[in-house]
Amino acid sequence: MRIAMIGTGYVGLVSGACFSDFGHNVVCVDKDARKIEALEAGIMPIYEPGLAELVAGNARAGRLSFTTDLAPAVAQADAVFIAVGTPSRRGDGHADLSYVYAATREIAAAIRKPMVVVTKSTVPVGTGDEVERLIREVAPDAEARVVSNPEFLREGAAIEDFKRPDRIVIGTDDEEARAVMREIYRPLYLNQAPLLFTGRRTSELIKYAANAFLATKSTFIHELADLCEAVGADVKDVSRGIGLDNRIGGKFLHAGPGYGGSCFPKDTLALLKTAEDCQTPLRIVEATVQVNDSRKRAMGRKVIKAMGGDVRGRTVAVLGLTFKPNTDDMRDAPSLALIQALEDGGAKVRAYDPEGVDQARPLLPGTEFTDDPYRAAEGADGLVLLTEWDEFRALDLKRMAALLKAPILVDLRNVYPPEEAERAGLTYFGIGRGAYSAG
Ligand SMILES: NC(=O)c1ccc[n+]([C@@H]2O[C@H](COP(=O)([O-])OP(=O)(O)OC[C@H]3O[C@@H](n4cnc5c(N)ncnc54)[C@H](O)[C@@H]3O)[C@@H](O)[C@H]2O)c1
Repeated sequence: MRIAMIGTGYVGLVSGACFSDFGHNVVCVDKDARKIEALEAGIMPIYEPGLAELVAGNARAGRLSFTTDLAPAVAQADAVFIAVGTPSRRGDGHADLSYVYAATREIAAAIRKPMVVVTKSTVPVGTGDEVERLIREVAPDAEARVVSNPEFLREGAAIEDFKRPDRIVIGTDDEEARAVMREIYRPLYLNQAPLLFTGRRTSELIKYAANAFLATKSTFIHELADLCEAVGADVKDVSRGIGLDNRIGGKFLHAGPGYGGSCFPKDTLALLKTAEDCQTPLRIVEATVQVNDSRKRAMGRKVIKAMGGDVRGRTVAVLGLTFKPNTDDMRDAPSLALIQALEDGGAKVRAYDPEGVDQARPLLPGTEFTDDPYRAAEGADGLVLLTEWDEFRALDLKRMAALLKAPILVDLRNVYPPEEAERAGLTYFGIGRGAYSAG
């Protein structure tokens, strides 16, 4: 199969590289010339474990190439995937579909043979209908079947998720389009990857429903963590106690500073807009969004309280900036609200992140960055562990305690057992951990 992937970001690049690894011939298109130049030179525009090797191998084999020139890539393709961004629209939180529609117009003008146009971007219900209408408007004679195929990969584990997905959702009622999609995913299908065929609108909604559910589950444990602090219980044990129940499951029950990232915040908002437009409110999702927003701000207050109530003129060391480990993605990361709150309180923040600093620097102009976690802690009045990167899981806590001016550890991911931190000479504050919480 010849595939054109429009948009070479976290989703487009990983999907394109994986499709080429299955043996398809893939051209990745992006209008960002610097990204394409870098990719042609073997430099990854994002951090994703294993991606550089996957891209290099398939580029060498001649199955994967990069271009800014959309028209020839589309003209030769059997299937075109739209994987451009769908950020929150400023002002109303609706998904901004301008990139999807701009790409659609360009694709329509370039179609030269029957083909399948697949929306991989996360798009609100009905977007596929509009994509189809636009193609007809721009190229009335084009034979294009529009399919929804939402992506469920997680940054940080994207290649594994793409190659071994829990399910592949394909939204179209068109039998020929289904056959093309079956062929594209056939290499996974042999590995028992479950293909779920649905109508196009249903497929579009499944993606939002999945993200809203996970955001809600995560927010549920965050609120319970607050209750644990009030009653002297330990949320880690509560999570385990309920997560071992198969009906509940242990995933997304880790208490932390609130969800962030490039998907949950914008997708929950976009789903609420759809629900509002249809006059069928989703009150549980509304509450989730509100609770999460206030939680991110509350984390700043929690750190300030742990440091004695006043951080003016004091230095706070922050370990981890990205919204989760194994990515450099800073979109809507809880670190942004937390550091803002600390700086608003008059603190100076010194931060370290293994991969996120390049993206964080323009977003956090008042923050000092170091290239080592211990250097961040030197002479600081408190240490905040914010993203649970592997390299923060076995820190030399005694060394940390010795380096800090005030040996305070605020562990917003509950990485360390409180007793271990206290044995190392640190005053420990976690999330939802009874006596060890400052909230
Ligand atoms: N990031 C994730 O973990 C994830 C997971 C599942 C789904 N999604 C969804 O996938 C979509 C893409 O997300 P992302 O994180 O990869 O976005 P991204 O911002 O990393 O990448 C989008 C890319 O599209 C390019 N682009 C925009 N318009 C273009 C055009 N007309 N022609 C060519 N290139 C164009 C941009 O230059 C950019 O490189 C979004 O809808 C997102 O919600 C993301």
